[in-house]
Amino acid sequence: MDFTGKVALITGSSSGIGEGIAIKLWSLGANVVITGRDNKRIQEVVNKCQNRDNQRALGVRTDLLVDKDIEELVAKTVGEFGKIDILVNNAGIGPTTTFGTPGYLESYDVVMNTNVRSIQVLTQLVIPYLEKTNGNIVNISSVAGLKPLPIAMDYCMAKSALDMFTKCLALYLGPKGIRVNSVNPAAIRTPIFERNSRNVDLLAITEANCQQKYPLKRIGEPEDVASAVAYLCSPAASFITGAILPVDGGSLRADDISVAAKKYN
Ligand SMILES: NC(=O)c1ccc[n+]([C@@H]2O[C@H](COP(=O)([O-])OP(=O)(O)OC[C@H]3O[C@@H](n4cnc5c(N)ncnc54)[C@H](OP(=O)(O)O)[C@@H]3O)[C@@H](O)[C@H]2O)c1
Repeated sequence: MDFTGKVALITGSSSGIGEGIAIKLWSLGANVVITGRDNKRIQEVVNKCQNRDNQRALGVRTDLLVDKDIEELVAKTVGEFGKIDILVNNAGIGPTTTFGTPGYLESYDVVMNTNVRSIQVLTQLVIPYLEKTNGNIVNISSVAGLKPLPIAMDYCMAKSALDMFTKCLALYLGPKGIRVNSVNPAAIRTPIFERNSRNVDLLAITEANCQQKYPLKRIGEPEDVASAVAYLCSPAASFITGAILPVDGGSLRADDISVAAKKYN
């Protein structure tokens, strides 16, 4: 895979999976735009993309809950590079509380606005540029969009909505030469677990759960998701659009088996 000369805008690339995607696309030759709300973390990722001739990493602080910030993100990207080839809608957050408890509607609003609304705003602004480059969109969803988790109801609904957006957008943009796909990870080792922990080591609990229940017997790494994104954006995937691709260590299949076992035992 060679992305030399391409321009990739990856939201939430100051951390975790987005950082992994940015570094992967960078290592394959792309210019990358690193975004998030924390300037220090943005700069750390920019610094990891070591200077090369004719290849640049641009850091842009953006709050995706502020439409004007999104407009500036696109303007700065096009101002720097003159075009956009790849949009990865990766930034997302987990819920802060559960359905039926105080504060749920506040959690719902932030989860929906971050994980769904901001993607509508950004994608509409980027499409005119992708039309010119026959570009690619990859949305980072979750197995939570495919499998219900009552403790994360708003998050599941948001990712499910994102999956339908991927499918509708693929039909809408296919004739314009733009492919749109989704990568749906299961548990991936990132700082999201610290952010969502409530006085427990959620990462350690999750790792143990993956070793026990995932057919591939491990938690995922950002690189696992980044490789799938790179493939989907590459010419090797030129006949693939509207796909919902789990990167899940086989966990969705395993869950199907356990549900069936419960039903028939
Ligand atoms: N890790 C997993 O197990 C897992 C599994 C399935 C799906 N996912 C999905 O993968 C994506 C990345 O998750 P991750 O695990 O890499 O999480 P992470 O390490 O917490 O990174 C999230 C990124 O999104 C950015 N972000 C969040 N809210 C933002 C906002 N309002 N404006 C701008 N940037 C914002 C964060 O930057 P700042 O906070 O600095 O602004 C950060 O760069 C998410 O969509 C998540 O739902 C993760």
